[in-house]
Amino acid sequence: MGGMIRVVETISELRATVQMARASGRSVGFVPTMGALHEGHGRLVEVAASECDVVVVSIFVNPTQFAPGEDFSRYPRTPERDHELCARAGAHIVFQPLVDEMYPDGPIGSFVEVPGVSRRWEGEQRPTHFRGVATVVMKLFQIVGADRAYFGEKDYQQLQVLKRMVKDLDVPVAIIGVPTVREPDGLAMSSRNRYLNDDERKTALVLSKSLAAARRAVLEGERDAGRVRQVLHRTLESAVGVVIDYAEIVDSESLEPLDRLDFDRTARAIIAVRLPSARLIDNAPLPRPGEPA
Ligand code: PAJ
Repeated sequence: MGGMIRVVETISELRATVQMARASGRSVGFVPTMGALHEGHGRLVEVAASECDVVVVSIFVNPTQFAPGEDFSRYPRTPERDHELCARAGAHIVFQPLVDEMYPDGPIGSFVEVPGVSRRWEGEQRPTHFRGVATVVMKLFQIVGADRAYFGEKDYQQLQVLKRMVKDLDVPVAIIGVPTVREPDGLAMSSRNRYLNDDERKTALVLSKSLAAARRAVLEGERDAGRVRQVLHRTLESAVGVVIDYAEIVDSESLEPLDRLDFDRTARAIIAVRLPSARLIDNAPLPRPGEPA
């Protein structure tokens, strides 16, 4: 692992490069990112490299998924470090277009919408976010033409939105979800963690703690989703300076809220909180009743 990396900035060069690989029978894996890469992104690249002959990583801070007033202009940009991390993790090609290359005529007139799974949670907090994500990922799929594309469970609703898009629109790519990579103390890695000051960094541990408490409640036999939700809320509320956007127990595919935890479907705890300097999200699968820990 860890060879030379080729950085490509135009759609035409990327297409030509990938087509050459495909013509020689090699499989293509794709990892879309917005850069400011950390070990979570690195894991996606490693998994892709273990399953595909050629791995393309895109680095593009997509303006259309940020609402006015969100952090688009201050989103961290660390291209040199990103290229090193990609090479180390086993990627071959970095696709790094300018905004003008992706949106040459300014705002575009066509969009991909996945209203069902997008509606609640992040979709409610950020009404145009998933339309921006689905549209840019569809554009990237058309450009890259990968066999397999890798997304983190960290952004769990995004993963479900994109799985649904590909299924509904017969996009010929397999969507692979990769479990969340965490810091040693449990905080889910995120490009936005660097916005946190030292106190907030400590406070942020309450997210993974609340998820662990919810899992524990289910393992101890709790079947009432409302009571598991209460465990999440009580834990999050114990931290000073944390405002809960949502903390819910949902069906792991539809993301609809659940009343009870059953044998015949998988449930997920999903949370979003605001700290003074950053908004943080996290989630975890809940064990099925009767499932060993
Ligand atoms: P970004 O936030 O850069 O994330 C890129 C990919 O890395 C996503 O699939 C995300 O879920 C995954 N990821 C982030 N942190 C992770 C962690 N701690 N463990 C595992 N995977 C993690 O998500 C986006 O960019 C954009 O919305 C994008 C899909 C690129 C469209 O613009």
